[in-house]
Amino acid sequence: MKQYKITLLKGDGIGPEIVDEAVKVLNKTAEKRGFSVAYEEAELGGIAIDHTGVPLPEETIAKCKASDSVLLGAVGGPKWENQPGSNRPEAGLLGIRGALGLFANLRPAVIFEPLREASPLKPEIIGEAMDIMVVRELTGGIYFGERGRTKKNEASAAYDTELYTVPEVERIARVAFDLAMKRNKKLCNVDKANVLESSRLWRETVLKVAEEYPEVELNHLYVDNCAMQLVRNPKQFDVIVTSNIFGDILSDEASMISGSIGMLSSASLGEGKLGLYEPIHGSAPDIAGMGIANPLATILSVAMMLRYSLGEPAAADDIERAVGQVLKTARTPDIYTEGTRKVNCKEMGDLVCSAL
Ligand code: IPM
Ligand code: MG
Repeated sequence: MKQYKITLLKGDGIGPEIVDEAVKVLNKTAEKRGFSVAYEEAELGGIAIDHTGVPLPEETIAKCKASDSVLLGAVGGPKWENQPGSNRPEAGLLGIRGALGLFANLRPAVIFEPLREASPLKPEIIGEAMDIMVVRELTGGIYFGERGRTKKNEASAAYDTELYTVPEVERIARVAFDLAMKRNKKLCNVDKANVLESSRLWRETVLKVAEEYPEVELNHLYVDNCAMQLVRNPKQFDVIVTSNIFGDILSDEASMISGSIGMLSSASLGEGKLGLYEPIHGSAPDIAGMGIANPLATILSVAMMLRYSLGEPAAADDIERAVGQVLKTARTPDIYTEGTRKVNCKEMGDLVCSAL
């Protein structure tokens, strides 16, 4: 029997609860589809700071590198807010993305039919369906550029640097064009080329790569306009490609359109098969340990893992279908509407398992 090695980075806050449910679902899927999964746990974020002093221990990097894929819960919380910037839980997250070379972050924003009424947008704006894929560059730009404290006109000052190389833009553009080819052959490049030199280089490079994909219809939006268009007419989008910081912001916006940030999964990919899969929401310290978190974004991240890293697309379809099925009748508090059954985190995991 085929066996996959998965490293679990449960992290902080609601991380452990949601990962436990996703593991249950993965095990059930494996049983059904005839493969097995071996798990290894490693520490990342606040819990790693508590135990080792740093948010990303070397051992965690080694374990992740030795596995077929990584499933991550969430990191961070008020307990570690006073850590210096380079030792915060979030630095561990950026660090593992960098260490594994995961430059491409895929963040699908889809509306599950039963959740249409949970979207804050009017039904006529959402239309029949919404299915946007945000492709965010993940290991470059301002999140990885030179930063520091300095003085300007004798005042204390600080700076962060947005820098992209042509090869960095080329490789993320190719990921986006390849995805567009498999979908509706529409790609929107988002930048701020009317102001930023780094954006002008970004756009020039995307235009060069576009020559390799004559079938893809490419258009360009400035990021401010894109933020507006997402709530004005989200149906116009198929694949969006953008920089690290713009992708961070726009993917949160796109997720809210789908009803709840508790629903959206993500995949972070590099040159090889190894990927890191995580919900796009955070560690929600306010509800941690209460057992009411929505595990569906993590469960859907497992589906992405099966599709993009493990080459088990049928198993991925099973999970997505099961989630759609369960949502018709059961909801965690964040997506609850009258007439459905309110369930907790564990019950939601169990229901998805039974629907498989
Ligand atoms: C995300 C998060 C992270 C990011 C933070 C926690 C470092 O907001 O995955 O979108 O900015 O990438
Ligand atoms: Mg974010």
